[in-house]
Amino acid sequence: MIAARRPGVLITSVERDEQRATEAAKLFAGVLDVEILYGDWTRIYERGPYDLLVVDGGGNGKKTSPADPQRVLRAAGRIVIDDFTPMTQWPPLIGGQPDTARLAWLEHPALLSTEVQLAEDLATIIGTRRP
Ligand SMILES: C[S@@+](CC[C@H](N)C(=O)[O-])C[C@H]1O[C@@H](n2cnc3c(N)ncnc32)[C@H](O)[C@@H]1O
Repeated sequence: MIAARRPGVLITSVERDEQRATEAAKLFAGVLDVEILYGDWTRIYERGPYDLLVVDGGGNGKKTSPADPQRVLRAAGRIVIDDFTPMTQWPPLIGGQPDTARLAWLEHPALLSTEVQLAEDLATIIGTRRP
């Protein structure tokens, strides 16, 4: 993402593992407009609103509550939530029960969301904040 960004794009990453956050901060020290915040995912609320937010740790609605798209995204900003198994039915189920993590994103009133299958066993959800 850092290599592909346009000049002037600020990248913020939040990491709760202290050693990992420290190493990442060292790795990107001196790289313009990159900041690594140590702490829980909720620190994303200290920045933003974002044009693109990848919730790859907390805030994805699986083990933690979902991030609030209306707080974290600009209008038409996108949120990416990965590591789902591809959906095969509607409504989506997990263990015979409604898949609340997936539904939270696919049915969020502030988002237009879609699921994209990336591999036989892997899918990601991309939500775009409604204007
Ligand atoms: C799947 S890894 C991210 C990998 C990274 N995006 C990459 O492509 O290399 C998830 C990371 O999120 C961190 N993490 C998990 N839960 C978190 C939380 N609640 N708050 C902040 N970071 C969290 C983990 O420590 C881990 O480093």
